[in-house]
Amino acid sequence: MPSHDMTALADASAAASTVGSEWWRSAVIYQIYPRSFADASGDGIGDLPGVTTHLDDLKQLGVDAIWLSPFMTSPQKDAGYDVADYCDVDPLFGTLGDFDDMLEAAHARGIRVIVDLVPNHSSDQHVWFQEALAAAPGSAERARYMFRDGKGENGELPPNNWESVFGGDAWTRVTEADGTPGQWYLHLFDTSQPDFDWSNEVVRAEFRRILRFWLDRGTDGFRVDVAHGLVKEAGLPDYTPDPESGSMGGDEADVPYWGQPGVHEVYRDWHGVLAEYDGDRALCAEAWLPTIEKTALWVRPDEMHQAFNFEYLETAWDAAKLRAVITESLRAYPAVGAPSTWVLSNHDVVRHASRLALTAENPQGFGIGPNSPGTPIADVGLRRARAATSVMLALPGSAYLYQGEELGLPEVIDISDDARQDPTWFRTKGERYGRDGCRVPLPWDATGPAYGFSPDGASWLPQPAEWATFARDVQVDDPASTLSLYRALLAERRARDLGVSALEWVDGLGDDVIAFHNGNVTVIANLGETPIAIPAGTVIVTSERLTGDTLPVDTTVWLERH
Ligand code: NOJ
Repeated sequence: MPSHDMTALADASAAASTVGSEWWRSAVIYQIYPRSFADASGDGIGDLPGVTTHLDDLKQLGVDAIWLSPFMTSPQKDAGYDVADYCDVDPLFGTLGDFDDMLEAAHARGIRVIVDLVPNHSSDQHVWFQEALAAAPGSAERARYMFRDGKGENGELPPNNWESVFGGDAWTRVTEADGTPGQWYLHLFDTSQPDFDWSNEVVRAEFRRILRFWLDRGTDGFRVDVAHGLVKEAGLPDYTPDPESGSMGGDEADVPYWGQPGVHEVYRDWHGVLAEYDGDRALCAEAWLPTIEKTALWVRPDEMHQAFNFEYLETAWDAAKLRAVITESLRAYPAVGAPSTWVLSNHDVVRHASRLALTAENPQGFGIGPNSPGTPIADVGLRRARAATSVMLALPGSAYLYQGEELGLPEVIDISDDARQDPTWFRTKGERYGRDGCRVPLPWDATGPAYGFSPDGASWLPQPAEWATFARDVQVDDPASTLSLYRALLAERRARDLGVSALEWVDGLGDDVIAFHNGNVTVIANLGETPIAIPAGTVIVTSERLTGDTLPVDTTVWLERH
């Protein structure tokens, strides 16, 4: 057990840091999607003991924190984002004791732990929803969710025209206790995910209790699911989404269920709850909003601490566009006293080793499969992903990594229809492939069962044969591997304090180039179609091997700054 790390975390959690020096301002946070990370029990689904087993690997990678997607009690209709009990661990993932062991082992290694909180909706198996179904219209039990009478002569039409993010109607009609067709309830996601009514103080009080439950166990913070969706516009006016926009609504303004001003009151309240605890506990918003300016409202000093920078994630591999989004991020977030975050992949988007080489439009949530247009060329995608990550990890602020990107994993395209599990696939009747392709269980060991994911070879989604070439064990000692690149980038970022330094653009290297100084590093990325000359200098890290003093296409280099 590395004692210096224990001391570091123990000191850090003893008291809050001075404003500006909190860990989350510059942390690199690694997302674990537990069901696909590592399976210790052998049922083909990853679990908390599996996470504990690989903490040394994450320590060696060099991350500051882990964020775990939901592992709470859930019927798994949306891979755990349908929570039936917010204060217990689903047996699929282990027990509360396994969580405590994992957290202690992470802290012992100087790694902080962020838990996913899902406040917009519960599972339909949550005791509150079951009570609501059994109770009468107008009851206190129904008032915790969004029940409404239907339109039409006999209430046979949904209360408005809203569509589910996963496709189909956002309303489902219930059968009342006497067997008659009854009210409708709102579910912005799957039918099995009824939305809470956040105008109800009972709901607010319950979530304060849930926050405290995890904070009391030592959790360092929360990633807040659908943070932009909790409050709906009064009167629930009709709204027709743009069919070409990403499914979480990020491209549209004035949506009556996204980004309503009332949500800020909720996060001010939660900020107060976290502030009651020692150390710097943090809230990170998953909020898909149309502009960085708007997202920055989520991280004002008395609200959340971070928000995912999805505008950055959604920016094409284009130097001018990337310069613009970085500039705007480094203006808008610091303007409200917050760090910018950076992210390229997560469990809801096409992995960036594929996305950056797509040649057709692919809105968030649509996924790619055998019949998608613009299939990426693997080599181009991986090369761009390595270059893109080498830019991202040089930026000031906090960066999020998604499990498997350190191995250069591509999106898995060839998943057979009968193996697909994402509700998006079912609710759109196969029109959208959805997100399974970025959720395929990780390869740890090229020759082991399920590539080392599971002891007996089980895997909840099929793993492709190419996983053997991406497995961690074949990369760990190869200096040219993507894993070695990530380790080098993270070590240099940490040693040179790049997360808290200031960016200064460097001009004059061409329109297709991104070049900047940060601290004692000069970063140059060539996004053009021909190699470019680079200044002579000591190379710190490079995303591809360099020959001579030119920078090949789709390559990033970090140089000692002179
Ligand atoms: C966002 C999560 O990241 C996604 O995976 C989930 O399906 C929806 N929210 C609904 O909870």
